[in-house]
Amino acid sequence: MKKIKITYFLKTFACLLAFISSDIVSGNNFATINEFVAPVAKQAINEKHNEFTASWQQASANNEYQLDVSRNSSFLTYVNGYNGKIVNDVCAVVSNLEENTEYYYRVRAVVDGKLSKNSNVILVSIQATFNKELTLKSAATDFLVGVAVNPNRISNAIYSEIYQREFNSLTAENAMKMKSIFQGIDNMGNHIYDWSKSDAIVNYAEANDMNIHGHTLIWHESIPDFLQNFSGTNDQFQAVIETYITDVVNRYQGKVDSWDVVNEAIDDNSVSLRNTLFLNRMGKDYVKKCFQFARNADANVMLFYNDYNLIFDSKKQKSALALIDDLIKSDLIDGVGYQMHINYDFPSKSVIRSATNQIVKRQLLVHFSELDVKVNPNGDIDQFIKNRALAQRNKVNDVVTVYNNIPNKFKYALTVWGLKDDDSWIMQRYGNMDWPLLFDSSLNKKEAYLGFIEALK
Ligand code: XIL
Repeated sequence: MKKIKITYFLKTFACLLAFISSDIVSGNNFATINEFVAPVAKQAINEKHNEFTASWQQASANNEYQLDVSRNSSFLTYVNGYNGKIVNDVCAVVSNLEENTEYYYRVRAVVDGKLSKNSNVILVSIQATFNKELTLKSAATDFLVGVAVNPNRISNAIYSEIYQREFNSLTAENAMKMKSIFQGIDNMGNHIYDWSKSDAIVNYAEANDMNIHGHTLIWHESIPDFLQNFSGTNDQFQAVIETYITDVVNRYQGKVDSWDVVNEAIDDNSVSLRNTLFLNRMGKDYVKKCFQFARNADANVMLFYNDYNLIFDSKKQKSALALIDDLIKSDLIDGVGYQMHINYDFPSKSVIRSATNQIVKRQLLVHFSELDVKVNPNGDIDQFIKNRALAQRNKVNDVVTVYNNIPNKFKYALTVWGLKDDDSWIMQRYGNMDWPLLFDSSLNKKEAYLGFIEALK
């Protein structure tokens, strides 16, 4: 009897929490929502091996809802007892479920005896007892799972909770780039640095026991204006770069575990180095020089070369490998980052695998460093339709499967380039609406998230 009362109390409390947190995420004032507007279904809470709690945002002052639960996303059939189940709350426990099964739920509001439209559909994947606590990081037993972050998001409680639950490695999306840190050079020749953003991220990672991948010491897209217009000689320019690399690497010695030393040095579809300020000022050996500066500053930190399209741009891959081989000869490189800005239908799993093997063959660590999967690269959809969500899930599964199959000693981390779809850089950069990440804009886990997990089962 007592146990039932406590369970009832806990469930009511969980509903209250769901209600409060859904309101924080959305910022909506429910009282002003039109009565016939469909309620917004939220991510399930309290997922267990045989039940979960469905939750949604209050749709009006009225408190009656109808809940549907199905094993298929189009609700062709219903789970027994959940075909329009009446609920007088903003959440409901759905029980007697089967392990290793996916369920979908949606709700309607009942207002003065009339029904609103259906809410959005939420997917819940019920795991077996032994892995009911499965998260990205717990599923990935042999490598780190990273996420790109910025200072605002790590200080937001809702993001932070998910970072800590799902990930054990961080990359600063922008805060550790040169433009963010290097502010100028004073009359005495002293460098002026702003460490506030980079420190915030490093301190957060340290406080939460997470790995930090430093990104990135040298990148042609992050050169401060004063350096772009530097009036000194080439030797003086090189000395500035040496001091910059030394200062940054020294500051985070023992905290940052690895650095992308040079990012994107190779031209697209070409065997040449990209034409950058660094190439012009420091000569064609500039990549090696930068690796040497980083190595001199910290003998233990791991040094990476990072680039995009290396998987399928064969000319670019060839010249990157030549550059990497040269760094290997001088014992200056520990690993290679394949940025994984890819599409839902490209590149294929076998192409990803053979490009990855090129790094393994060279006995270097592999970092899949910036995973996002575009579902709308050609601008042909204006909604995130189901078959694209499933194709994205398959592509994420391909990526994680290839990564997980490399020998453990060459694994390092698989990093996703942001947490939720609407935070992604993809829309700004390419213009099309897109949904490239593992969580949707309401922080629900997507099919793509499940693709990540299922590749590791
Ligand atoms: C991007 C960030 O995501 C954006 O916020 C920023 O405006 C530009 O840079 N390759 C990289 C990353 O190595 O640093 C880039 O990040 C994405 C492409």
